[in-house]
Amino acid sequence: MCIDNIKISTKKANELETLKKSLNEDIHIISVSADHLIEMVKRFREQMQDIVISPTQNSIMDIVNQALTMVNPLILSKNVTVIKDMEFDAILKCDEFHLKEALINILKNSIDAMEPNGRIIIDFSRTQNRGIAISITDDGKGIPEDTINRVFDSFFSTKKSDLNFGLGLFYCYNVMLYHGGKCDISSRVGEGTSVFLTFNKKSVFEVVEV
Ligand SMILES: Nc1ncnc2c1ncn2[C@@H]1O[C@H](COP(=O)(O)OP(=O)(O)O)[C@@H](O)[C@H]1O
Ligand SMILES: [Mg+2]
Repeated sequence: MCIDNIKISTKKANELETLKKSLNEDIHIISVSADHLIEMVKRFREQMQDIVISPTQNSIMDIVNQALTMVNPLILSKNVTVIKDMEFDAILKCDEFHLKEALINILKNSIDAMEPNGRIIIDFSRTQNRGIAISITDDGKGIPEDTINRVFDSFFSTKKSDLNFGLGLFYCYNVMLYHGGKCDISSRVGEGTSVFLTFNKKSVFEVVEV
């Protein structure tokens, strides 16, 4: 009788241990899912927010470098070569946060579109009417002609991930609009994509040769 009791207790203890293990696993899954949900809400809010531009004087080279630092883990994970073709720096009257976020979105799109060992070229140029254009060119898969007109639409995405809401380029477009500038895209399937951020001369405080 006593041995039977011990056996039952041992069995129950084992069952409890299994239950504890499975409960811990469930708690872990809940915690990871909650983190994922928080990240989704955070990204969604960032990209859907009303854009309020607070212009200050900023070096575009600094902002580009900061954006590159933010995406560096992705750059390293795909072994992307980044070529900075910047013959000058410009001090722009722009919103540092929103311009940096826009660049991060564009760089992430480029990296998403690439096979490992791809290349991104960042180029600064002066426009005919004394504005400044930043171009970000990748050698990724490109965008088909029948979808390129939709990439600036809100919620247009060809990606499977639930962290991609199709708001990145919509946000970039609006950021540039609020700066009095523009955001354009050109692409060829199998060759790559270029995104152009153009600031008009009112936004250019100073051009510094480097
Ligand atoms: N550099 C790029 N190369 C290829 N396709 C791109 C690139 N940038 C944007 N796209 C296309 O435009 C769509 C919209 O981009 P975006 O607004 O940033 O949304 P998301 O990245 O969430 O899909 C992407 O899903 C993709 O199909
Ligand atoms: Mg995107």
